[in-house]
Amino acid sequence: MAGSYCIITYGCQMNEHDSEIMQGLLKARGYSKVDSEFEADVVVFNTCCVREGAESRAMSRCESLVSAKEKNPNMVIAMSGCVAQDQGKRLLDKLPHLDIVIGTRDYVHLPQLLDRVQVSGERVVAVDDIDKPFSVNSIPLRESKLKGFVNIMYGCNNGCTYCIVPKTRGEEWSRPIAEVVEEVRAMAAQGYREVMLLGQNVNSYMTDKREDFADLLGALNEIDDLWRIRYTTSNPKSCRDRHIGAVAGYEKVMENLHLPVQSGNDRVLRMMKRAYNSTRYRHLVSLYREQNPVHGLTTDIIVGFPTETRAEFEDTLRLVQEIRYDNAYMFMYSPRAGTVSAETMRDDVPLEEKKARLKELIDLQESIAWEKTREEIGRVHEVMVEGISKKDANQLQGHSRTFKRVVFPGNERLIGQRVKVKITGGTSHTLAGDIVTTEPAEALAAAGR
Ligand code: 5AD
Ligand code: SF4
Repeated sequence: MAGSYCIITYGCQMNEHDSEIMQGLLKARGYSKVDSEFEADVVVFNTCCVREGAESRAMSRCESLVSAKEKNPNMVIAMSGCVAQDQGKRLLDKLPHLDIVIGTRDYVHLPQLLDRVQVSGERVVAVDDIDKPFSVNSIPLRESKLKGFVNIMYGCNNGCTYCIVPKTRGEEWSRPIAEVVEEVRAMAAQGYREVMLLGQNVNSYMTDKREDFADLLGALNEIDDLWRIRYTTSNPKSCRDRHIGAVAGYEKVMENLHLPVQSGNDRVLRMMKRAYNSTRYRHLVSLYREQNPVHGLTTDIIVGFPTETRAEFEDTLRLVQEIRYDNAYMFMYSPRAGTVSAETMRDDVPLEEKKARLKELIDLQESIAWEKTREEIGRVHEVMVEGISKKDANQLQGHSRTFKRVVFPGNERLIGQRVKVKITGGTSHTLAGDIVTTEPAEALAAAGR
């Protein structure tokens, strides 16, 4: 009894990829995708609860479907992802029109759950054990035909005091190298040229056979027709010098690192239980920079953590000024029920102060990003051409190996190829340039990228 579906995704790239897997499952069942949840027979809210904002946005968008469901009684509404895992059955009480609550390691059963609801009309909660090993036997329906996400590990064993993720994603479990290689090889055979390896903490990737992240990169680097390997998220705590060596040593691994710092102050880092200090963080960055002179570096930062003083926040400003990130994801601290910080620390930085700190940090980061764009002028980047620019139909767009977005004039026949682009300008987050040569991939590879 297939119909149409709409999946609304919040949160991180893991969630985006979980949605791609659910789309693959629904497509295999004959469902077709529609853009508006109001017209769909099956609506899935794939939720995030890392901060209060993301959670309440999902809840209110779900609430707005009440009258649509009254008009279409066959409509089935499901909530998956971290809010579902965290709240389980309680969601059915909060949202009387919700049919299915589905946990972070249960979403692979979505079609069977739909069958149950459609046959019996019952409301179901499938929020199972999240510490179990996990495998997905379906083909994700990915947005792009050129680049795609690949899960390498699930869960998180870190105890960052502010973070809900260990509670919603369970214990770390790494997929065997052979399984990841098989998935990526199949993708490369279909024309995918770039993979983004996903895990909450890729540096602690460790298989039952004691193979680590560097071993995984080595195995993936051997795959023919694959050009580019990215990975996220790296955690400074478990980031070994060996990993940094490996990312520099394998030619397919892109020169792009997302290394969340969270704070530039050592006392705050201790309160967060990040298990590194700012000196160790600076060491990792300089090691990475020595080995990858041209690179992109991004981070996550929280301002207004409980008890953070103005002077401690200034340590974060200083670190940002010194490291000069290409981009940063910056957040106000948001207490999440069930986390150590929410249970044991008072959220004592006033909202107005948090807002002011965030603004100051964003302004600083924005000015650094502009400066960095100016420094790129004259540089030549290898760009994988991904498509036509959404903002300007006369321009192509793609990403450099440092993962900067680059736009440039060119023929759409170049989509799917690598070109060299000389940078002439840009904005804080996008570089603009002109193609200098278009060489076949083999020639570029022979020339050492
Ligand atoms: N409050 C604010 N930001 C948070 N993050 C995680 N938990 C919280 C929280 N409780 C941020 C961190 C993390 C990113 C994904 O979200 O910076 O790296
Ligand atoms: Fe949000 Fe974290 Fe869950 Fe990702 S893992 S969806 S960021 S709460």
